[in-house]
Amino acid sequence: MSQNPKHIAVLTSGGDSPGMNAAIRAVVRSCAYHEVKCTGIYRGFEGLIEKDFEVLNARSVKNIINKGGTFLKSTRSEKFRTDEGRALAYKNLKEENIDALVVIGGNGSFKGAEIISDEHGIAVIGIPATIDNDVNGTDFSIGYDTALNTVIEAIDKIRDTANSHNRLFLVEVMGRDAGDIALNAGIGAGAEEILIPEENLGVDRLLTSLKHSRASGKTSSIIVVSESEKIGKNIFELAEYLKEHLKAYEIRLTILGHIQRGGAPSCYDRVLASRLGIKAVETLLLDKKSNVIVGITHRKLTTIPFQKAASTPRKLDKDLLRVADITSI
Ligand code: F6P
Repeated sequence: MSQNPKHIAVLTSGGDSPGMNAAIRAVVRSCAYHEVKCTGIYRGFEGLIEKDFEVLNARSVKNIINKGGTFLKSTRSEKFRTDEGRALAYKNLKEENIDALVVIGGNGSFKGAEIISDEHGIAVIGIPATIDNDVNGTDFSIGYDTALNTVIEAIDKIRDTANSHNRLFLVEVMGRDAGDIALNAGIGAGAEEILIPEENLGVDRLLTSLKHSRASGKTSSIIVVSESEKIGKNIFELAEYLKEHLKAYEIRLTILGHIQRGGAPSCYDRVLASRLGIKAVETLLLDKKSNVIVGITHRKLTTIPFQKAASTPRKLDKDLLRVADITSI
């Protein structure tokens, strides 16, 4: 990487998450603070290939810290998966004398960033922003906290109607292959059962547990189901199975879907995004490091090389499973 980057570009990529705007704002203002030129790239890697660029200054990012989504917009770019697409992207960066690229996104976006860096030598920094919280090298990704709060607010409402009608509700939440949203929101919303991809406890155990809780006096139940839960049945099949085998309840299902990705970011996400945005720029300018993901671990700002993050297996916090089991008794 060039020893002293003079021009940094920033883009958002992959699924949007609340707090991405706050992260862009922090990157842009940190560049202004350090007197480095900053360019915003619209529509993620797609905009990088099509040269959809705009120079940003501290005032360009006013009044966005509280806004969900990303004003730079986001895509999952197919063209960027091709050699030609990445070559064009690199050419566009070079034409504008951009020395480094800050990518705000999740694992897929970081993979793309790592590849263009390997191929063309451009310095890249990743800022983890995904509601899934599945990026290694950070305890929390931007948007996860807001999504959790959106989910528990929705489940609280579902519980009101579940209670009124003595019903059992299956509630599907996002998370791709990670059960973090399901497990934490499930505990927070007092779910009776939580189904996550990391733990396949089987449908028989689920049925036994639900029958047991019914017999113990519960009149309604909430089961939080992570979207990629691997019990062997999707949420519709699971609902049919329970209807057949659990006559005690009327059963309904709700898929929360993309409401989990929208809304104003929580204070936690705004602060996290602000810290990580500055950390990204200062990792380039002060630490002279690149090809890392910035993150927060045990309340400290950290960096981890892309490769190490991708090759480290994710660990589920087993203690949370225990908390869920005990509190749902
Ligand atoms: O990665 C964020 C996420 O919302 C996942 O939880 C979900 O599986 C996926 O993106 C949905 O993607 P899309 O918005 O492209 O349908």
